[in-house]
Amino acid sequence: MELINGNEIAQNIIEELTLQVAKIDGVKPCVVFIRVGEDPASISYVRKKEKTATAIGIKSRLKILPENISQEQLLVEVEKENLDPSVHGILVQAPLPSHIEEKIIFNNVSSKKDVDGFNALNLGKLCQEQDDAFISCTPAGILELIKRKKIPTEGKHVVVLGRSLIVGKPAGMLFLRKGFPGNATVTFCHSRTPDLKSHAQRADILIAAIGKPQFVSGDMVKQGATVIDVGINRIEDSSKKSGFRLVGDVNFEQVASKTQFITPVPGGVGPMTVAMLMGNTLEAFKRSK
Ligand code: GUN
Repeated sequence: MELINGNEIAQNIIEELTLQVAKIDGVKPCVVFIRVGEDPASISYVRKKEKTATAIGIKSRLKILPENISQEQLLVEVEKENLDPSVHGILVQAPLPSHIEEKIIFNNVSSKKDVDGFNALNLGKLCQEQDDAFISCTPAGILELIKRKKIPTEGKHVVVLGRSLIVGKPAGMLFLRKGFPGNATVTFCHSRTPDLKSHAQRADILIAAIGKPQFVSGDMVKQGATVIDVGINRIEDSSKKSGFRLVGDVNFEQVASKTQFITPVPGGVGPMTVAMLMGNTLEAFKRSK
């Protein structure tokens, strides 16, 4: 069993990006974060993204909007950033309040500034295997881990647990692409999949992105598989000062010893998401020239 150290790999990427940004003369890349409401997890994620941008030398601006903002007004705010030539990347932090239809917001972020890769054009380009697609940061981070650890994918069976627009669907599409890391056979499982365990057991690479704490148990994993844990769940833990601890969608204690590679939570996929976002922002900046 080898732990995939997402912190270390993300730090390497951040250092690579820092060198590239330092070489830019004049105006630096700029990303705008739009946060609606005061969801504690969103506050913490956006803060992490701001800090990483600053560390790299990427400019960032945070726009905080009230929880009760109308969809129409949010679209106006997005459009302002679309039209601002000093802004290269736009990120609307999900989840949005339930009265707002996320897809409509994502589809109205300019595809050239869509560093999250959530809009229909970029998702379509991913399916078409076009090189200029912005790819959703968590799936892109998973792929980068696989690439850097040189984990074979060709002819392998990738099983994705979860079908979200942000992780599950694009992650599966990435492994389906031609070349490395792709050419895999991909199975998607979700809450309505009968006997999900039998699918998971056939995975050479198992991606857990279902948002259920410690869902993947030891008996769901094949000996020698690679397990990528995308979950970040808070569970009560009275031994901690905070009263909780973070766990993934995988029961690490049961699963780790069976795997060839496994990502820990925290310190696996999470830091990669932020690093890939910064890579997308630099790319959007370069293309704006
Ligand atoms: N919420 C959870 N993950 C993400 C992400 O990658 N981007 C945005 N915008 N919101 C998220």
